[in-house]
Amino acid sequence: MDYKVRTRVRQIVVEDKIPVDSQITILGLTRTVRISKNVAFIEINDGSCMTSIQTVIPEPEKFPVLDKILTGAAVRVKGKLVTSQGKGQKYEVAVESLDLIGEAGADYPLQKKRHSFEFLREIAHLRPRTNTFGAVNRVRSRLAYAIHKYYQDRGFYYIHTPVITASDCEGAGDLFRVTTFDLDAVPKKEGKIDWESDFFATEAYLTVSGQLEGELLATALGDIYTFGPTFRAENSNTTRHASEFWMIEPEMAWAELDDNMHLAEDFLKYLFRFALEDCSDDIDFFNKWIDKELIATLEGCIKFEFERISYTDAIKLLEKSSEKFEFPVKWGIDLQTEHERYLTEKVFKKPVIVFDYPLDIKAFYMRVSDDWKTVRAMDVLVPRVGEIIGGSQREERLDVLKEHLKRKGITDLEPFGWYFDIRKWGTMPHAGFGLGFDRAVMYITGMANIRDVQPFPRVPRWAKF
Ligand code: 4AD
Ligand code: MG
Repeated sequence: MDYKVRTRVRQIVVEDKIPVDSQITILGLTRTVRISKNVAFIEINDGSCMTSIQTVIPEPEKFPVLDKILTGAAVRVKGKLVTSQGKGQKYEVAVESLDLIGEAGADYPLQKKRHSFEFLREIAHLRPRTNTFGAVNRVRSRLAYAIHKYYQDRGFYYIHTPVITASDCEGAGDLFRVTTFDLDAVPKKEGKIDWESDFFATEAYLTVSGQLEGELLATALGDIYTFGPTFRAENSNTTRHASEFWMIEPEMAWAELDDNMHLAEDFLKYLFRFALEDCSDDIDFFNKWIDKELIATLEGCIKFEFERISYTDAIKLLEKSSEKFEFPVKWGIDLQTEHERYLTEKVFKKPVIVFDYPLDIKAFYMRVSDDWKTVRAMDVLVPRVGEIIGGSQREERLDVLKEHLKRKGITDLEPFGWYFDIRKWGTMPHAGFGLGFDRAVMYITGMANIRDVQPFPRVPRWAKF
């Protein structure tokens, strides 16, 4: 078979690289099939881009196979690329041969009509064949490329941090356990579970963040980033939480909180610009069907500086507002989605970086301020999605780090040995953050639910496919 000689629809309609009159082969799935006496039209989508290509069969009676080609069939068309006579497309294919490669019956679920996203989640194995999910997956792929390009062009090294780990980076306890124990016969020693005899001879988990290992590498290599899956067993059923999600974690040696904020803003703007330029046909689709303000919003994000406001000033703004918040506002609370949205959507109408959070609500590794009330933390909040980035300057002073852990009630310091060592020998200021990749894709596509930007989402009570 000569499948390799195919022309991708993208080369024709997006890149405009194929001259009229070329002999081409198109391989794809049929979207619509219309047959009349004198002519038949088959619209084929090959997934390379949003647009389907129209193929025209002038004498349908010469193609008896047409009777068996319904929506969703896999077909091969050979013919000549011609300028389209019809409206709405520049090119079409004058068909010379037509083969049915894989039949689809009338029970194919994706008939030409609009389906709800809820329904499509149930058939996540088929939904990439729809316009919306084709676009989501293409944009995800291009953004992943852009992320590597951004950091590689700036001298950051890509680090693979372990997926299986014995430490809880965020200290939030939302961990998925990894074990090879037979759950019906867990070995015990003196009444307690004998982790010594488990696979890793210790309790092990799926990582919630590659940050701690990222710090080790940054202090050696300078600037690094990670980009990989992370796992959180939070039982939160929201549109923005997934149990498995991808995170990008840059970590810079010789950097303070200001450098971190600068990197976060520059990086996000780069991604927005990249999406608008590189994925314009898919973004146009989202702008038309998902969020009519999408392009204007992204352009605004690029043009204007992100607002920077301390947590303390943000609390003052929230206290002054006449909004009825479900969670009462006072200094020391963790900002809830409603507070974050108020700041980004009502007050500033653009991305906001909130920094210097109360020490008590943040993780042990963040750099402590002189008064021991706040830490040098920062969250980047965006309209609609809320927190998209969380980061901080790290505590590089060993004595302060130990004191901070003590005040947090963490008494078993043994597991932190290696984390202490990079402070014990040649310590230096360093800072970094984590961007939730899936939330970034939500923001860039306008999609409202994290379940609809991941090909196969994992959320509480759902691990199908
Ligand atoms: O704020 P988080 O928990 O920060 C960290 O994990 C740090 N160790 C990062 C660092 O400094 N290197 O998570 C970072 C980001 C959040 O801002 C959010 O975008 C995303 O990860 N995130 C989630 N995305 C989807 N589902 C979840 N359950 C998420 N939890 C966090
Ligand atoms: Mg956070």
